[in-house]
Amino acid sequence: MEKIKVGIVGLGRLGKVHAKNLAENVQGCELVAACSFVQEELAYAVAELGVKETYNEYEKMVESPSIDAVFIVSPSGFHCEQIKLAMENGKHVFSEKPIGLGIDEIKETQSVIQSYPDQVFMLGFMRRYDDSYQYAKQLVDNGELGELTLMRCYSIDPSSGMESFVKFAGASDSGGLFMDMSIHDIDLVRWFMKKEVRRVWAIGKNAAYPELDEVGELETGAAMMQLENQAMAILIAGRNCHHGYHVETELIGTKGMLRVAAVPEKNLVTVMNEQGVVRACSQDFPERFREAFVSEAKEFIDCIKEKRQPEVSAYDGLQSTKVALACKKSFETNELVTLEDE
Ligand code: NAI
Repeated sequence: MEKIKVGIVGLGRLGKVHAKNLAENVQGCELVAACSFVQEELAYAVAELGVKETYNEYEKMVESPSIDAVFIVSPSGFHCEQIKLAMENGKHVFSEKPIGLGIDEIKETQSVIQSYPDQVFMLGFMRRYDDSYQYAKQLVDNGELGELTLMRCYSIDPSSGMESFVKFAGASDSGGLFMDMSIHDIDLVRWFMKKEVRRVWAIGKNAAYPELDEVGELETGAAMMQLENQAMAILIAGRNCHHGYHVETELIGTKGMLRVAAVPEKNLVTVMNEQGVVRACSQDFPERFREAFVSEAKEFIDCIKEKRQPEVSAYDGLQSTKVALACKKSFETNELVTLEDE
């Protein structure tokens, strides 16, 4: 079978990870085109990844007959427009999370996606493709925990990335902590619980990094949620983790509980020395989710080849964004926010 030819837009913090995977680690596809505003990034794609076509304008790349599929890893505010344009040009589309920053633009994008049912659309909630989360999901779906009553989720970026984060946040609108970071946990809550979120209360504080105030971002935020069946979720998100990249999830059910990455270990090595018994910590998202990023890209390519749609849909994008926006509103108004049925 012919290889699926892919063009990528965005070669920043995450774009480079996806581009390398598509060029080297995912079978059945070829990374032929790349689009970025940054000339050095395009030069890297040509020299290191063997990309043949480079673009400064996304509109030109999606018109190229050389590509079958587009990988969108640009800043979040561009996703909706770029998804629609790719769909209208007959391309399969993988888009990073969040699908968009506003409900109206997402609904419009969702209807464009639905009008091209023969083209694959996938959203980058890569935690669903992580081995540990898949294992936990199987246990939960097999009823090992009984009925789920509560989830507790931590997603905290490393303090070492603060400088690059402030640059990222200053250069484009990330949607804020709940949209940019907690959205992964919101997706996990919906995925594990199979229920929608009904009410949220969110709070937050900047303490060590007042420069985050200037870019409208939060250092630490927390949200408490009630789902439609009265199950509960507690989300903690942040940008100031001194030991590394801390992503931890706890599920409590009527028959038992489980934790994914209760201690965010780098690997299985324990060092015993003058500092004591030391376990290194995973340092950033490319390291912790290295395999998950490969697995989700493989799934996207397999879906195109096998003419099927992936599990993560535009609807998941819409629902998770609604919850993230409710958290933002709750934080800004300091009120409990109820999500309406639509
Ligand atoms: P970044 O700021 O490091 O890189 C952005 C890239 O997009 C740059 O190459 C820039 O030249 C390019 N770009 C910006 N606007 C463009 C436009 N209009 N047309 C073409 N290229 C354009 O951003 P980063 O951190 O790589 O994030 C990108 C996306 O990935 C965001 O939506 C973010 O939410 C998502 N992300 C997801 C993660 C995950 O865990 N799944 C982790 C990090 C980011």
